[in-house]
Amino acid sequence: MSGENEEQLSYSDAIKKASPSITRFPVIPVRGVPLMSYIAQNWDSIWAFRPDPSDLLIATYPKAGTTWTQEIVDLLYHNGDAEACRRAPTPVRSPFLEIFSPAPIPSGLDLLEKMDPPRVIKTHLPFQLVPPGFWENKCKAIYVARNAKDNLVSYYHFDCMNQTQPEPGPWEGYIHKFMRGELSWGSWYDHVKGYWVEREKRNILYLFYEDMKENPRREVERIMRYLDLSVSDEVLSRIVQLTSFKNMKENPMANYSFIPEPVFCQSISPFMRKGEVGDWNNHFTPEQSEMFDEDYEKQMKDIKIPFRCQI
Ligand code: A3P
Repeated sequence: MSGENEEQLSYSDAIKKASPSITRFPVIPVRGVPLMSYIAQNWDSIWAFRPDPSDLLIATYPKAGTTWTQEIVDLLYHNGDAEACRRAPTPVRSPFLEIFSPAPIPSGLDLLEKMDPPRVIKTHLPFQLVPPGFWENKCKAIYVARNAKDNLVSYYHFDCMNQTQPEPGPWEGYIHKFMRGELSWGSWYDHVKGYWVEREKRNILYLFYEDMKENPRREVERIMRYLDLSVSDEVLSRIVQLTSFKNMKENPMANYSFIPEPVFCQSISPFMRKGEVGDWNNHFTPEQSEMFDEDYEKQMKDIKIPFRCQI
């Protein structure tokens, strides 16, 4: 059994043991951004993290397609070898920088300390909270953005099922919390804009979830080129197939089934829920949609980002 598999078992056991005491953790603002209390309490060590120049950062607002992108990158780094990419669950293969125990995901800094670069590091931190070492070391970074309405719908379902996130409350009120930037990791509007304005200066590959859905092969190729990798056409096709929604939903190393049911309650809403563009139509009433759009125009008027709510 590989070291990572052993670790994975011990993580599952630890989470199972801890799960009766796992509750919906409060959020505490860090420089005005609400973050899970354990992140806020360990902020100094997160901010001080020094990546290796070869490390890759995958940054997203929660529920924008992080896991999908992590899987694509892992497969590209392993030349499409499905077995190699089933060596451990996503957050063990690709640590979540700021997460801290007792959150149900293994602590990012602990894992990173034990891993050799190049590492694929996930973060939900807004641009201004990313440890400066990433930019000082000129690390590559991929940002994935998803249109606000689908992102919000996905986050709502996630907050219903993830028993460590703040209580989402009713849908109507949740929309307002999103608009006011009160959800964990803060304002979606500031998040997508923050990386957008820095993308050229910092050489950030800025991707859209909708483009990935529309033409996954084209986007996987863009990622490949950005990473200075080259895989055969056949491997490219395999990666597209292995990272389809259906295949990832069935992949126990990508679908977060390693987190026990009381913590990630997948019977309430599966982690791999729908994977579609435009699902917001099934949730927003016409009035809610109009109110949201009006506010969106105001919040996004300074910077135009070509989001699509439909493909
Ligand atoms: P839905 O809730 O809309 O289904 P993250 O990984 O950032 O938490 O994002 C999770 C969202 O991405 C979920 O959206 C999930 O279903 C979707 N997703 C994950 N893998 C996907 C894939 N291979 N193709 C399309 N969507 C995917």
